[in-house]
Amino acid sequence: MTEERVRDYWNDNAPAWTQLARSGYDLYRDAINTPAFFAILPEVCGLQGIDIGCGEGHNTRLLAARGANMDAIDISPVFIHLAQATEQANGPLIQYQVASATKLPFADDAFDFATSFMCLMDVPDAKAAIKEVFRVIRPGGFFLFSIEHPCFKTRHLAKVKDAHGQIIAYEVGEYFSDAVQVEKWLFKKADQAFPPVSRPFQIPVFHRTLSFWINETIGAGFRLDAINEPHPNAQTLHDYPELAGAGQVAYFLHLLCRK
Ligand SMILES: C[S@@+](CC[C@H](N)C(=O)[O-])C[C@H]1O[C@@H](n2cnc3c(N)ncnc32)[C@H](O)[C@@H]1O
Repeated sequence: MTEERVRDYWNDNAPAWTQLARSGYDLYRDAINTPAFFAILPEVCGLQGIDIGCGEGHNTRLLAARGANMDAIDISPVFIHLAQATEQANGPLIQYQVASATKLPFADDAFDFATSFMCLMDVPDAKAAIKEVFRVIRPGGFFLFSIEHPCFKTRHLAKVKDAHGQIIAYEVGEYFSDAVQVEKWLFKKADQAFPPVSRPFQIPVFHRTLSFWINETIGAGFRLDAINEPHPNAQTLHDYPELAGAGQVAYFLHLLCRK
């Protein structure tokens, strides 16, 4: 699948995604993934950063709130427009532009750090994207990114439930398949949103193995500093019992790398 086709899918998803995420429906992001990401994020205050695949800009704004001078790119013009509209309301802190992760419109060594939240598994040529990130970070700079966990988000995936309907395990398979899959889903409880969202997101996902991510990161020249597999703690599970599945296996993988 081409990047242009991926962009078209995300342009279609962007309005409803933004509406739902800004209304609190992206629970995995807000309760598990983003807090874990920021827990291992090195100090960014006063640094030049680039956020890759920024979507509507939620996480980029959190980075800017920590004092980072942020650029942000996304392949979807609709997402960039929605991000910019929020930015204009709050002051010109973040420079957004439409671009692909595989062709970053920046000079070599331009940034102190790069982030990418849940984007790289959606890029057809993730190897090229990782090389591009390496190029635009200065020596000594870091790259922190999150993706769906390749070992537990496989092409074949089924929930195993007990007699009470509780998820007790996952059945995974086709781990080595790299065929693209267009997933159809909405955030949990999004059917209760008002205004209602009439159709699910359609998201092209490119499955890769754990060794792909580690080898391509090291192969680009990065040193791997930390790996994290965020999952809900007892308080989160108490507050959001609907996230219980994410306590059985790791839904997300975070890699902290250094140039
Ligand atoms: C799951 S969303 C995550 C958005 C945002 N980072 C967040 O955490 O809410 C994936 C994002 O990756 C973007 N994307 C997909 N392919 C891309 C590419 N080649 N270059 C840049 N962005 C891309 C999509 O447009 C979408 O905004």
